[in-house]
Amino acid sequence: MLLPRTRLLAWALLSVAAVRAEETVPYLDRSLASEVRIKDLLSRLTLEEKIGLIHANSKFAAGGVARLGIPLTWTDDGPDGVREEVGQDSWVPAGRTDDFATAMPVGIAMAATWNPAMTEAEGRVIGEEARARNKDVMLGPGLNIMRTPLNGRNYDYFGEDPWLTSRMTVAYVKGMQSEQVVACIKHFAANNQETERNAVDVEMSERTLREIYLPAFEAGVREGGAMAVMGAYNRFRGDFCCENDYLLNTILKKEWKFPGAVISDWNATHTTRGAVLHGLDLEMGTRGPYADYYLAKAYEEGIKNGTYSMASLDDKVRRNLRMLFAAAAIDGRGPGSINTPAHRAAALRANEEGIVLLKNEGRLLPLDPNQVHSVAVIGDNAVRTFAAGVNSAGVKTFHETTVLEGITARLHGQADITFSQGYRGPEQKKGKRDATGVQSAEVLAASALEQQNLADRAVKAAGAAEVVLFIGGLGHGAYGDDEGTDRKDLSLPGHQAELISRLVAANRRTVVVLVSGSPVEMDGWLEQVPAVVEAWYGGSTAGEGVAAVIFGDVNPSGKLPCTFPRRLKDSPAHASGLARQFPGENGVVHYDEGLLVGYRWFDTKKIQPLFPFGFGLSYTNFAYSHLAVTMGNNGVGSAVAKFDLTNTGSRAGAEVVQLYVREPQAPVDRPEKELKAFAKVFLKPGETQRVELQLGQRAFAYYSPALKAWVADARTYDVLIGSSSRDIRLQGKATFAQPSVSR
Ligand code: BGC
Repeated sequence: MLLPRTRLLAWALLSVAAVRAEETVPYLDRSLASEVRIKDLLSRLTLEEKIGLIHANSKFAAGGVARLGIPLTWTDDGPDGVREEVGQDSWVPAGRTDDFATAMPVGIAMAATWNPAMTEAEGRVIGEEARARNKDVMLGPGLNIMRTPLNGRNYDYFGEDPWLTSRMTVAYVKGMQSEQVVACIKHFAANNQETERNAVDVEMSERTLREIYLPAFEAGVREGGAMAVMGAYNRFRGDFCCENDYLLNTILKKEWKFPGAVISDWNATHTTRGAVLHGLDLEMGTRGPYADYYLAKAYEEGIKNGTYSMASLDDKVRRNLRMLFAAAAIDGRGPGSINTPAHRAAALRANEEGIVLLKNEGRLLPLDPNQVHSVAVIGDNAVRTFAAGVNSAGVKTFHETTVLEGITARLHGQADITFSQGYRGPEQKKGKRDATGVQSAEVLAASALEQQNLADRAVKAAGAAEVVLFIGGLGHGAYGDDEGTDRKDLSLPGHQAELISRLVAANRRTVVVLVSGSPVEMDGWLEQVPAVVEAWYGGSTAGEGVAAVIFGDVNPSGKLPCTFPRRLKDSPAHASGLARQFPGENGVVHYDEGLLVGYRWFDTKKIQPLFPFGFGLSYTNFAYSHLAVTMGNNGVGSAVAKFDLTNTGSRAGAEVVQLYVREPQAPVDRPEKELKAFAKVFLKPGETQRVELQLGQRAFAYYSPALKAWVADARTYDVLIGSSSRDIRLQGKATFAQPSVSR
C-alpha cells in the first residue's frame, strides 16, 4: 500500500530522528551542497531501494524510501494545470473534491502571446498549484514542433518555430522551478504526430534535427535548467526514444550536460537492456504489475548476476535524487496555493494576450458595448468548456467561463442576447483506454436533418440581430485537437463553413470567433466575413478573454505561432502527397521537407499562406523607423538591432516586433529567412520606443554535421524587422569579417 505523503513524512521524521541521534546525517544537512547530500544518501541505499526509486509504483508515483525519509516522487500532468486525481492503479478519476486547479490557456495560446513573461507566470502558477497538490514533477511543458497542421497535439505545443518555442520553454521552466517544482519538458524527441505514435520511426537529416527539432529542448536544459526530460513514444532512426543512445546519452547527457532525470512517457519503455544502457532514468507507465517493469526486477537481477554495473544504477538514482532535491521533497517546502484570484488573473491576462485578430474589415471590431442593442451568439463552441476532458492536458476547473457567459456578463443586461446552437460539433462516445492511457472515442455526427434545422434557426436569429457573433472552431476528442489521433483534414466540423456563409448573407455584421488549437481552412467564407478572431482554448477564463477583445477592453496583441495554410497540400509535410512523408510508410516517416518547416517552407517555396506565421492585427497601428544594426565582439558572432517603434493610432496597444535573419548565397541550403529575436512592446497612443534586439552567434549560424558545431560564415547577412513573417518593415545588414564556430 502507498502511504499518503503526510503519513510517510511523519513516519520518516521519526526514523530520521532515530538516525540523527546516532550519527551525523549529511544528506539531511541543508547547509551542505546538494551533490554532497546526494552522494551521502546514495551510499545508504540498498540495491532494492535504489531499484524502487527508478520505476513507477502507481500511475503517477515512484520511489519512496520511508526508512530514510525519502518520500514518493509524485509526478503529474500536465502543461496547462494540475490534472484531476486518478486512481492509484487506474485512469478512472478518483472522484475527489480537492483536485480542482486553475487551467491556463493551452500551449499554442501561450505561444501566441509572444510574451515569455506570460509563460513564466504560467510556470509559477502551475508550480504553486502543484505544490498545493503535493506534486514534485510536472509533466510539461510540451515543446514538439508543429510539423503538420493535422497533429492532434498541436494545441498542446508552442507552434512551428524553434526560437519562439525555445523562449517559451525557458520562461515556463524557470517560472515553475522557481516554485520548487520540477518541469519535465516533453516529448524528446521528434514526436510530431499522433498517428502510430507508439511505434513510428522518424527519419530526418542531422541538420533538421539540430536546427528545427532540438533547439527548444536544448534551451530548456541549458538555459532553463529543466531537471526532467520525458522520452517520447516514437522511434528515432530505428531506436525507441526512451532507449535511444544518440538522443539521450550522446546529445542530452554528454553534449548538453543534462544533470536531471530522463522519464519515460507512460509505457514507452520496451526493453531492460535499452533502458539501462541508453539513458532512461525513471520508467513510468500504465501497465502492472510494477515489479515487472523493465527497470524493476529484471534490472535488479541483471545487477546481481553481473550483466549490468552498479555504476549504471547509481547514475540513474543520482539523477532521480537531484529531481527530488530540486523539488525540496526531502527538506519540505511551502504549502503552495490553488485557485487563487491571482492565479485566475494570470490566466486571464495570458488568455487576452494570446487571442489573435485575423481580420477586421471596416474596423467592425471592437464593438462598443453601449451601442449594441441585440446580439445573436451562434455556435456550439459558445457553450462548451474545454479544459477538462482532454487526455493528459485536462484540468478540472472550479469554473471555466464559456464564451456565451463571457459575452453575457460583459453586456451587463444592456443588450438582448439570443443564443442559437447553429451546428452540432462532433460528440464522442468514449470507450476503453489504450496501453498509454488514451481513451478511445467513436465520433458521432449529427444527422443531416438535425444540422439543417439547427442552421435554419441560427440564420433566422442572425437576421433579427444587430450583430452576429459566431463561435465555432474545433474541439477536443478523437480526430480533433487531442492526444492519440491526428485530424483528418483542415475543415471545420459540423458544416460550419456553409453555416457561416449563410449567417453573413443574413447579417453582414458577422464576427467569426474560432475556438481551436491548430490551423483550419477558411475556404468559401473568409472573403465574405468582415471580422475573424482566433481565440484558441483559453483555460479557466476563456469566455472573459474573448469578450474583453470583442468589446475593446483589451486591444488584441496575439500573433500566430504557426502558419495557417490555404489548403493542406500547401504545407510542407503534405505537399508531396506521399505517405512516406505523412503519416509514414511501413512504419517509417521521412521528414523529406528537412529544414523547411512552417513559414520556412512557405517563404522559400513562395507559397502564399492563408495567414502567415507571426501575423495578428491590433486596434491601433504601429510604425517602424530608424534601424541601426551594430556588430559586437569585433565583428565576430554577435550583433544588436535598434529601431524606433511608434504607436500611431489612438489606442494603447502592444506590438510583437520580429527579427528574421537571411543569409544570401549561403554555402549550404538555408531557409529564406528565420526568426532569431522578438519582443512584445506596449505603447500608449503616440508613444515611441527605441527597441533593442540582441543577436548571438547562433542567430546567424547553421549546424555543420561535419564539424559537429554551429558555423556562421564570414558574410553580410540581411536583418529583417517585421510585424509578421510576411510584413517586413525595415531591413539592415550584419557583416562578419571572419567565420565563427560554436558548440
Ligand atoms: C502522454 C504524456 C503524459 C503521460 C501521462 C502520455 O500518454 O503522451 O504527455 O504526460 O501520458 O499522462
